Amino acid sequence: MFPKASLLQFLAALSIVSTIGVGVGVGASPAAGPIDMSRVARDDGPGALAIFGDIIACTDANLSGDCTTLGVTSGVCTCFTGNLAGLNDQVSSMEFDLGAGATCTLYQDNNCSGGSFFVSNTGIINNFQDIGFNDIMTCFKCFQG
Ligand SMILES: *[C@@H]1O[C@H](CO)[C@@H](O)[C@H](O)[C@H]1NC(C)=O
Ligand SMILES: *[C@@H]1O[C@H](CO)[C@@H](O)[C@H](O)[C@H]1NC(C)=O
Repeated sequence: MFPKASLLQFLAALSIVSTIGVGVGVGASPAAGPIDMSRVARDDGPGALAIFGDIIACTDANLSGDCTTLGVTSGVCTCFTGNLAGLNDQVSSMEFDLGAGATCTLYQDNNCSGGSFFVSNTGIINNFQDIGFNDIMTCFKCFQG
């Protein structure tokens, strides 16, 4: 677990860096396995970004393959760069655990740009082929309901 000072620095970096789509700044390599960012953020105290739910992103259909749990902050563009690069253009299924009324937009290109897919029902998308978005997602942005 991070010391508090570095965790706050990390969260500040996540806020700024993910907005411009350059990446997120934690130290583990993608090969080290799923990164549970929600747990990292939830351990923090006052001043942390407000994580309101989780997304699970998986490299194969039906929530299989390599799955990564991501803490979700309302209105922040998060891109699969840096330590999340292993997910870039690889996601084939997702689970959205964001509570009633939440919405997300999935994007094809960096900085939440390019082709997009709007998700108004949280739950599970079992196969991104069904939505014409298989293996092309690069960023997402969600809003709390
Ligand atoms: C990212 O998108 C925002 C909002 O559209 C824009 O202001 C910013 O300049 C973009 N950043 C990059 C690096 O493209
Ligand atoms: C996902 O699960 C469904 C239901 O069990 C199954 O019909 C389908 O073949 C599976 N898809 C893949 C790509 O594994």
